[in-house]
Amino acid sequence: MIFRMSKVENPIGVFDSGVGGLSVLRAMRALMPNENMIYLGDQGHVPYGPRPMEEIQKFSERITRFLLKQNSKLIVVACNTASAAALTYLRKQFPEVTFVGMEPAVKPAAETTRTGRVGVLATPATFQGALYASVVERFGTAVELFQNTCPGLVGQIEKGELTSTATRSILEDALGPMLEKNIDTVVLGCTHYPFVIPLIEQIVGKNVRVIDPAPSVARQAKRLLEAAGMLNQSGERGAVRFLTSGDPASMKSLLPLLLGSQGEVQPFVWKGDREI
Ligand code: DGL
Repeated sequence: MIFRMSKVENPIGVFDSGVGGLSVLRAMRALMPNENMIYLGDQGHVPYGPRPMEEIQKFSERITRFLLKQNSKLIVVACNTASAAALTYLRKQFPEVTFVGMEPAVKPAAETTRTGRVGVLATPATFQGALYASVVERFGTAVELFQNTCPGLVGQIEKGELTSTATRSILEDALGPMLEKNIDTVVLGCTHYPFVIPLIEQIVGKNVRVIDPAPSVARQAKRLLEAAGMLNQSGERGAVRFLTSGDPASMKSLLPLLLGSQGEVQPFVWKGDREI
């Protein structure tokens, strides 16, 4: 395991196709405020959702290599799509590294639904992957699942449009038919979507539970670090370094809206087969 070669003050590496993983980073910061973190948003390639699995694997591998070069002690794949397409692949490519990945939270939904009907919002690649099929097989057979890929929603969130009419109408199109089927739970199977929870709650009303998986992913990361004796307990607030393969100015301008704080964003440049 990579832990053995690491120091507690080494950063946790976190990545996503764009700004979605910031919903996971936010939960991790709240739970583990002393940890240093590196966040990489692959905005040069967002969205991942409609891309072929092999391509998402290639991007995830190169990002992981970069995060390891920065001495990451743990890698959090803060993206359901990259987890669905590449987590098994990454674990094979980097057997010495500890990864935390994501899967749609069908299990807690199935355990608490009263109507037995659950909506799942995620990207096309997440629904197509073997990971989702296995989640459904393990936890979803006793409930009825209604899936929607919310076309265009990731792009809206990347633009910071959390409350616009266009964003609302994508969500209404996705959730309307599910509400007609009497769902009482909505699983957010994409890390971008927690940023529009207020809008989702306006549409579905008080009687529908909305599940954001970020806090449980943060708890899992903390558990692994604790078990390995690698939790940073320095007492000082950890630093976060942000990088994007897209436009640093644009990510920087979104940080206050999405994280509630400012930050500098550095460019991450893909060049040939290497990142610089
Ligand atoms: N944030 C992502 C997820 O959790 C990916 C969205 C995308 O790039 O399509 O699935």
